[in-house]
Amino acid sequence: MANIKYHLGEEIPLEMHKVRMIQRLDLVPIERRLEAIKEAGNNTFLLYNKDIYLDMLTDSGVNAMSDNQMAAMMTVDDSYAGSATFTRLKDKLSDIFDKKYFLPVHQGRACENLLSMAYVRKGTYVPMNYHFTTTKAHIMVNGGEVLELHMSEALNPVSSDPFKGNMNLDALNELIEKEGADKISFIRLEAGTNLIGGQPVALENYIATSKIARENGIPFIIDASLLADNLHFIKTREEKYKDHSIREITKLLSETADIIYFSARKLGHVRGGGIITNDESVYKTLLEMLPLYEGFSTYGGMSTREMEAMVVGLEETMDEEMINQGPLFIKYMINELLKHGVPVITPPGGLGAHLNAMEFLSHIPQEEYRAGALASALYIASGVRGMERGTVSEEREADGSDHLAAVELLRLALPRRVFTLSQVKYTIDRVVWLYENRKLIGGLEFYEEPKVLRFFFGKLKPTSNWQEKLVEKFKQDFGDSL
Ligand code: F0G
Repeated sequence: MANIKYHLGEEIPLEMHKVRMIQRLDLVPIERRLEAIKEAGNNTFLLYNKDIYLDMLTDSGVNAMSDNQMAAMMTVDDSYAGSATFTRLKDKLSDIFDKKYFLPVHQGRACENLLSMAYVRKGTYVPMNYHFTTTKAHIMVNGGEVLELHMSEALNPVSSDPFKGNMNLDALNELIEKEGADKISFIRLEAGTNLIGGQPVALENYIATSKIARENGIPFIIDASLLADNLHFIKTREEKYKDHSIREITKLLSETADIIYFSARKLGHVRGGGIITNDESVYKTLLEMLPLYEGFSTYGGMSTREMEAMVVGLEETMDEEMINQGPLFIKYMINELLKHGVPVITPPGGLGAHLNAMEFLSHIPQEEYRAGALASALYIASGVRGMERGTVSEEREADGSDHLAAVELLRLALPRRVFTLSQVKYTIDRVVWLYENRKLIGGLEFYEEPKVLRFFFGKLKPTSNWQEKLVEKFKQDFGDSL
């Protein structure tokens, strides 16, 4: 996004790319949208793309790829073992992160599986700035407990703290003192806290966390899935690093970690994942598990075409003009929604715009899944698919009661370079309409509920006929407009 001043004064993020391949979209009528969300059990994961206008479920694996990435896919070496593609990817990672060893895996949670199996023991803790759904599930399956040591601002929806994702260092020191380093499997920092609005971590906080980890002999692991946004925020929000290049910031950040893992569905803009380290013993431990769960050590379950495109995608991540596209579109969307009084998470983070469903739907009991209800209502009103990030995304307590989430968010992900500004404006328009008509929205209840990661396949139904009433109001206000 070039630094452009506008004569007319409006602040508009300006794209430094053009569209050279397109996919046709349809906006189905509201009657079909109502039917579709019912068929999907009010779970946006279960909608089919034919019924979706703008897919803001996630950026995972759906960021736009560049012409150079597509071209690279044609020059692949697809040997099962020892391919030149693997060597190119390993060399690119080591060039960017200064880490010698690379273990390829099929996606981010596969890293979490391997790392949890290797490090987590029954009765141990994994302190982190905030959990991610799959991370927590893998740690729990291996008998460990996740401890979220975030700053108090992290959960404050309206904040001016530029780094709400920071680890609470005092709490970390206290934990180590109280429990002893032996009880801690590893310390995890998520570069950009997915579940609390893509809020970043300051480079100073990585450095300080790493110092504590090293002094106490505890492995320090960074989840770099959301690293691209975090790099942009360090450069633009952390005074000390404003003159550093993205490449320099990446090196400084990487230096702090013993192990870095990532979902390449986000970092690198393809579909895959990986673990990198300089520690030979870590590498050897994980390598033993790799062929059993992922694949041979030079592809790890990934398509070699994706690996080749990842080489290019990682290099493009070092370009501030590329990594700022997501955050600047998100900032635009958040600022426009704020103008209309819609409760959103501030400051704008990475990954997507996050609506604060806790406040948006404060008239619904939290037990009736505010964020889930908002996801359902927005889809009906617009054909836009968002993702519930609240109580539905939590696991139940051991006694079977619902674990009420600290935040109830509807995430509207903005995959990089995918949507146009007019599509973003359409979404803003429908969100504002929904906010003005929020009292029409009611709650949801489960009628099919899986035991683990229930948000993927669980099905819910409305607690009243509020969805029909919402459709009625839409037709009154918009006539026969889609
Ligand atoms: N860590 C973080 C911070 C993530 O955001 C994700 C995925 C993972 C790990 C797991 O990676 O999906 O490749 O297995 N987040 C996706 C999302 C699912 O929609 O935000 P994965």
